[in-house]
Amino acid sequence: MNKEIYFDNNATTKVDESVLNEMLPYLKEQYGNPSSTYSFGKNIKDKITNIRKNIAKLINADYQEIIFTSCASESNTTAIMNAVKSNPNKKHIITTKVEHASILETCKHLEKEGYRITYLNVDSQGKLDLKELESSITEDTLLISIMMANNELGNIYPIKEIGQIAKNNNILFHCDAVQAIGKVIVDVKEMNIDTLSLSGHKIHAPKGIGVLYVKKDIEFNPLIFGHQENNRRGGTENVPYIIAIGKAIENILNDPESNINIKKLRDDLEQKIITNIEDVKIYGDKENRLPNTLNVAFKGVNAEELLLMLESFNIFVSTGSACNSELAEPSHVLVACNADLENYSPIRISLGKYNTEEEIDFFLKRLITIVNMIRRRK
Ligand SMILES: Cc1ncc(COP(=O)(O)O)c(C=O)c1O
Repeated sequence: MNKEIYFDNNATTKVDESVLNEMLPYLKEQYGNPSSTYSFGKNIKDKITNIRKNIAKLINADYQEIIFTSCASESNTTAIMNAVKSNPNKKHIITTKVEHASILETCKHLEKEGYRITYLNVDSQGKLDLKELESSITEDTLLISIMMANNELGNIYPIKEIGQIAKNNNILFHCDAVQAIGKVIVDVKEMNIDTLSLSGHKIHAPKGIGVLYVKKDIEFNPLIFGHQENNRRGGTENVPYIIAIGKAIENILNDPESNINIKKLRDDLEQKIITNIEDVKIYGDKENRLPNTLNVAFKGVNAEELLLMLESFNIFVSTGSACNSELAEPSHVLVACNADLENYSPIRISLGKYNTEEEIDFFLKRLITIVNMIRRRK
């Protein structure tokens, strides 16, 4: 059997060897508590401060604005609940129909508490209409929460324009940048972002570490109380994982070119699929799309069946968002796009820096065979 071919990097990524090596000493010898005053712990605190500086550099923030969390879902929930707490007299939030579950479920929870939520529509390519955003704003709006890039389609949203609209209307703006970081330029100042989320496991650090950026001059209400993170997020720091995300961010800063190769592989694959297979549909906004993502359907071919057959060759793709696949419901993102899922049910291919041309060729051959086989059987 061939080595696994992993094309599901939007779901999670392999931990880099360099990341693992950097974090291991902090699971062994360097077990001090960063809050201690003696050097055994304090040295770790200094190291963490340097990591904050690196993360801040990547998103053009100040290091005091960086908070470590347990995951991006926690960062997203904290950001929304903070906005709510900071605006006790307002009861309206604007988000989109294509956000990650951690945003949508927090909004649903707030709906039960009496908040009004506008879920902005997307068109068939998953694009937003900023006029709809502007016309949804009322005196009562306390937050706009819109992702920078969509995990299923790869669409990149016009965050700078959205940030400007939020600023003009004096509304807080939260941005889930989990899928964007390392793939597109993130500049919280230029984009007028008040709060922003990141996750370690999408950038080759382990699962279970997130970041929340909170702009200096906004009010902040913690979700978890305690003295750490400058009183903004309680809990003894998860040192090995903070070290890990620090190394992953350093790797991004040192390798700004890695997306060029990933994009070339994706574009080649897309072209070869279109050339070699009939009746193909590509979902998403081809003009503004992450360099690694390809959401593609083959007429009459059931995505679940295709996925299982690819799996038998040790090839891993997904049929939508990994977080939703156990629900066995059609993807909320594709439903929002009004996709013809009966005829065109898609697989999501999301490449990463470890993928190679040989893997793309191997995948393509198997894909062509499987699609033809499924179609012949009908
Ligand atoms: C867009 C987006 N936001 C948030 C998350 C949640 O990240 P985490 O797993 O760190 O909670 C994900 C992960 O799938 C995601 O794709």
